[in-house]
Amino acid sequence: MVTLQNKRIVLGVTGGIAAYKSADLARRLREAGAEVRVIMTRGATEFITPLTMQAVSGHPVHQHLLDTAAEAGMGHIELARWADAVLVAPASANFLARCAHGRAEDLLSAVCLATAAPLAIAPAMNRQMWAGAATQANLDTLRARGARIFGPAEGAQACGEVGPGRMLEPSELVALTASLFASGALDGLAVLVTAGPTWEAIDPVRGISNKSSGKMGYAVAAAAAEAGARVVLVSGPTALPDPERVATIRVTSAQEMFDAVHAHIAQVEVFIGVAAVADYRPTDAAKEKIKKSAERLTLELVRNPDILASVAALAPAPFTVGFAAETENLEANARAKLKEKRLDLIAANRVGAGDGGFDTDENALLVIDRDGNKTELPPQSKTRLARALIQLISEKYHAAKQRRQTQGRAQDPRPAHRH
Ligand code: PMT
Repeated sequence: MVTLQNKRIVLGVTGGIAAYKSADLARRLREAGAEVRVIMTRGATEFITPLTMQAVSGHPVHQHLLDTAAEAGMGHIELARWADAVLVAPASANFLARCAHGRAEDLLSAVCLATAAPLAIAPAMNRQMWAGAATQANLDTLRARGARIFGPAEGAQACGEVGPGRMLEPSELVALTASLFASGALDGLAVLVTAGPTWEAIDPVRGISNKSSGKMGYAVAAAAAEAGARVVLVSGPTALPDPERVATIRVTSAQEMFDAVHAHIAQVEVFIGVAAVADYRPTDAAKEKIKKSAERLTLELVRNPDILASVAALAPAPFTVGFAAETENLEANARAKLKEKRLDLIAANRVGAGDGGFDTDENALLVIDRDGNKTELPPQSKTRLARALIQLISEKYHAAKQRRQTQGRAQDPRPAHRH
């Protein structure tokens, strides 16, 4: 099934008779799980009303570049940043020309210019306009800049002619839009991710836990699935639904997480420990609810197993990625953990008052590899951050594999790797 779960799509509609299909397209994008914001050009509003597009997208339609109310709310830069992808359907010949020339005199072309998200264009026009040298040159320019061109299809046209220039059907456009997110960076690999907090029981109703919501780990699992991996997610207690296309195993305590990880680790090439695992648990959980009697109560704690270190010490070990949640000395502490736990990669985030990390929608990461190279992934939504991290993990994984094949394992002091 085609999925656009949690994807934010800006749908641009330009002036052409195929604009009547954009309403169905918006509806289908939402059915596939996407959040949709619509931008209409002045020409588009001659063919279909903003009210229709508002009703099907569930949000007011954006129309004007220089609109003080819109700029104070969600203006062109916010829309450009908000989007995970921009899909222009239908795209007129005039829009292709504006976009190819980097013009920004209307909201849609300004957003196309300002966004870092993938741009997909579904042209629709008369077959002669499509075949025109100027249109084809504009398309070449857009393709060369990385834009994806969806269609057009051939067939009977509204103008009575027959040939190429029909907008693809909404169902085809939804499937192609979903393919924008399939990087294939982890194709054929199995990935195990841990996420969320653990809960260490004190008695049947009380326990020790932390503020991890699971958002970061679930986003990493979803991004790995999107990149083509078979993903197992071992999750502590969270309020989040299971991510799409991910085999999710729910556990409660650190020991249960350890057991679930080791039950599956032999089959995976990449392990990513995002969970905020409790370092200690009460030595003996009381069988019954502890009564309030004494003035003081002392809890004795015992160390939990370190799941991440235990995975990195396996022979053969998967490519092992740890997280580091730090309130101070981010880089130094992360480097120490990378070395101590013998990891391939560590992703460090600042946590604590005023910082991201726990239970936020945004985060930033400092990623360090075992050769000491660092990469900063700047503040952004956890969904986007996870995609960037997965891309980086894929590059490091493939580079390590290549290096091992070239140098031979004899020079590698670490236990044998599974890649
Ligand atoms: O869930 P969210 O609300 O989205 O928050 C995300 C997050 C802040 C929890 C996440 O980004 C993060 O930083 N996860 C790691 C939290 C943590 O426990 O960090 P640590 O520095 O204490 O542990 C280092 C690493 O060892 C982690 O990969 C951890 O999973 C692992 N570990 C720790 C202890 C233990 N007993 N077993 C482990 O595997």
